[in-house]
Amino acid sequence: MVEVIRVEALGRHHDRAGFACPTGNLGTYLRERASQDVKRGAAAVFVGVDPSAPAKILGYYTLSSFSLKLQDIPTPYQRPLARYPDVGVTLLGRLAVDITCRGQHLGEFLLFDALRRVVLSSSTIATVALVVDALEGSETFYTHYGFMHLGGQRYWLPLDTARLLGQKQSAPLSADDER
Ligand SMILES: CC(C)(COP(=O)(O)OP(=O)(O)OC[C@H]1O[C@@H](n2cnc3c(N)ncnc32)[C@H](O)[C@@H]1OP(=O)(O)O)[C@@H](O)C(=O)NCCC(=O)NCCS
Repeated sequence: MVEVIRVEALGRHHDRAGFACPTGNLGTYLRERASQDVKRGAAAVFVGVDPSAPAKILGYYTLSSFSLKLQDIPTPYQRPLARYPDVGVTLLGRLAVDITCRGQHLGEFLLFDALRRVVLSSSTIATVALVVDALEGSETFYTHYGFMHLGGQRYWLPLDTARLLGQKQSAPLSADDER
């Protein structure tokens, strides 16, 4: 059982091949595309590790800049942004936990960590919300935290909610402070 998690940018020393996730293409993506996406500036990839075994990836998520058409965002958010045809948001492109570590609040821990990064960076590059294209079966994971349905598999979490959630801790896990 993991107790302390460190979240860091994906690096060469991380064992991508050892990450086990049979859902969708989340394992394949980490093995075959994630590093390329980082190099090309398509996505920032963050991994969660146990500081006592820092090569083993317990879970990961990706963040990218993204935009939505004004008419595609929830109506209450359209009015203050009415002069912008496109709205800048942040895409949580992928979030996955190793199959052997699920159900220990690691997914929640990584989600909260992603929210903190998005809130922090929003003072430099503004973003209105976090958006996720949920895989089938994971929708309630996101709605549980206040994500609103936008249509299809797409969900939306406004920055204010992200700010509040980002202040929460995922007991019983604690963060390794040596970032
Ligand atoms: C979805 C996923 C990231 C959740 O990670 P996890 O570490 O197993 O989940 P957690 O232990 O952090 O769960 C946090 C809460 O969400 C709930 N939850 C977890 N997975 C859920 C799911 N698929 N549907 C609904 N609720 C879920 C848990 O019951 C828990 O609720 P609680 O706070 O009331 O105890 C993980 O199951 C996973 O990697 N799935 C495959 C990939 C995927 O679907 N990713 C999301 C789409 S991009």
